[in-house]
Amino acid sequence: MKKVKKAIFPVGGMGTRFLPATKAMPKEMLPVIDKPLIQYAVEEALDAGIEELIFITGRGKTAIEDHFDYSVELESMLAARGNARFIDEINKLILPVGRVYYVRQQKPLGLGHAVWCARNLIGDEPFAVILADDLIFGQNCLKELISACDNGNVVAVMRVDPEQVDKYGILDIDACSSNIVKAKGVVEKPKVGTAPSNVAVIGRYVLYPEVFRHLENVNTGINGEIQLTDAINSMTPTTSLHGVFFSGTRFDCGTKEGMVQSTIYGALNRKELADSTLSYMESVMKTETK
Ligand code: UTP
Repeated sequence: MKKVKKAIFPVGGMGTRFLPATKAMPKEMLPVIDKPLIQYAVEEALDAGIEELIFITGRGKTAIEDHFDYSVELESMLAARGNARFIDEINKLILPVGRVYYVRQQKPLGLGHAVWCARNLIGDEPFAVILADDLIFGQNCLKELISACDNGNVVAVMRVDPEQVDKYGILDIDACSSNIVKAKGVVEKPKVGTAPSNVAVIGRYVLYPEVFRHLENVNTGINGEIQLTDAINSMTPTTSLHGVFFSGTRFDCGTKEGMVQSTIYGALNRKELADSTLSYMESVMKTETK
C-alpha cells in the first residue's frame, strides 16, 4: 500500500440528535472536557502521519475553520495578561497552510456523498476517513488501521450486541484471525436478526480511490442518504475488505449517552480531574442509593 497521506473529515451533518446545542454550533465542536471532538480527530490523524486534511463542511460549520486558524485578538489578549501557556496551547492548533482544505457539501446527502465531495483532492492514492463523533481514547486507531493491513479497503471494527446491529455497518465475515477479519461484504444498518455477523464498522476507514467511482453509481440507501458502506460493499468483488479490531476505548459521541460517558472517562483519566470526579460520583451514588 502507498503511504496514507490524506484524511477526509466529514463534518457536514446536521447533528439533529444534539439539538438545540447544534442549532448554531457544529456537532463536531462539542467538547469533551476542554477539546472539541474535531480536535481529537485531527490530533489522531496528524499522529498517524497524515499530511493533508480535507474537511467536508456545510452551513453553520465555520467555527471549525476558525478553531484551526489564528485568533489574533485572543492571542494579544493572552499576551497582555502574560498567559504564555495558553498561547502555546492555541497555537498548536493552527494547521499548516496549503495542507488543509475545506469543501462545502451544499446539501447533507449522507456520509457517502460527503466523502465523494473530496474526489478531486485525493488523486490516485489510498486515503483515510475519520468521523470525529467516534472518539477513541488510548491507542491511535488510524495508526492501527494503517499498519495492520497493506492492501485493499480497511475499516475499524468492534463486536456489538446483536440487538444493536441496526445502528452500524455490519461485516459479512469470510475469515478471521486474531485482530483482523477478511470480509465478503458489508451491509448498512441491517434489521435485528438479519445481520450477517455482529462485527460493526466504526468511524475510521482507509480506502482506495476507486470508491469515488462506486459512490457515483450507488443509489440512495438507508435514510435516503448516499451510504459510504454501500460503495465499499460494491467494491468487494475487486478490492479486498478487512476489518481491524482496534484496541482503544471508543465512545459514540454522536449520542448523548456517549458524550456523557466519554466526559466521565476522560475526567477519570486526567490527573488534575480524576480525584474530584471520583469523589463527586461517589457522593452522588451515596445520595441516590439512600
Ligand atoms: P451522522 O450519521 O452522525 O449524522 O454522521 P449527523 O447529521 O452528524 O447527526 P444526526 O444523526 O443528525 O444527529 C456521521 C458523520 O458524517 C458526517 C457528520 O458530520 C458526522 O461527522 N456527515 C453526515 C456529513 O459530513 N454529511 C452528511 O450528509 C451526513
